[in-house]
Amino acid sequence: MLTLGIDTKPKLSLETFCLLRDIIYAKSGIQFGDTKKYLLETRLARRIEEKNLKSFEDYYYYLMYDPDKARELNYLLNCIVTNETSFFRDPAQLDAFRRGIVPRVVEEKARTGSKTVKVWSAASSTGEEPYTLAMMLMEDLGSRGYGIEVLGSDISDRVLKSAEAGVYEKYSLRNTPEVFKSKYFVTSGPESYAVARKVRDLVKYRKVNLVDSIETRMIRGMDIIFCRNVLIYFDDASKKKAVTHLYDSLNKGGYLFVGFSETLHSITRLFRPVSIERSVVYQKV
Ligand SMILES: C[S@@+](CC[C@H](N)C(=O)[O-])C[C@H]1O[C@@H](n2cnc3c(N)ncnc32)[C@H](O)[C@@H]1O
Repeated sequence: MLTLGIDTKPKLSLETFCLLRDIIYAKSGIQFGDTKKYLLETRLARRIEEKNLKSFEDYYYYLMYDPDKARELNYLLNCIVTNETSFFRDPAQLDAFRRGIVPRVVEEKARTGSKTVKVWSAASSTGEEPYTLAMMLMEDLGSRGYGIEVLGSDISDRVLKSAEAGVYEKYSLRNTPEVFKSKYFVTSGPESYAVARKVRDLVKYRKVNLVDSIETRMIRGMDIIFCRNVLIYFDDASKKKAVTHLYDSLNKGGYLFVGFSETLHSITRLFRPVSIERSVVYQKV
């Protein structure tokens, strides 16, 4: 018998896409352009099936009114964020951190008599960035009696869970210098590496939404913040919010790194751009 191939998959209308997009924007600051409609449709199709819903409209109402809506919103954010990262990403910036910024911070610490260096990797994804920073600090300051505190945070609890586990595929370590590989990782399988306990002990993780003033208010007294490759997903209003929160979390004179292709130009005048080792770093004045 001939069966007609009728496509029964739910379709995401432009109207419902706009409603979902507004929720995503309000909760995360992430701007979803019209070109992302297909992406959202494919990523949510399986969820709609799992929840036994019939349409994207049903999904929208679920997200708005179900008693479990907070958990579902969490799910939605987990499935739309871009988590790409790796150890020792953008080496020029890391050189600027290691050779330019850390020595300045340490000099300032010596002046004030403080012995703890605090670094925040905001939007840390699966943890490669905060662990990279912790390893570099350990390498340079570990034997000099400094306390090292690294905070990794993200809006997605899925990536934070994986960061806490600290186990990575070989591909994630593709830019990692041999000396760091041998000192700060242990082999945990044929193609996987675990971050050594001494590094993991320096890094704490917390769920933080960068556009939320209440969640960011808990974080203060940072010497250096890395907020790389997340501002690109925000519009100017969200960027301003996030950057103002980061400013408040930094010590006076502290430094902010944004992604290589990101800039604070036209977003804020709160920071002074400083050129170090082919990178621009922003200093809180
Ligand atoms: C591309 S990754 C960047 C990872 C790392 N900073 C790097 O440069 O390799 C972007 C991360 O930003 C997170 N993110 C998106 N919106 C956020 C928000 N409003 N608050 C905190 N994190 C957010 C995503 O969950 C994702 O893990």
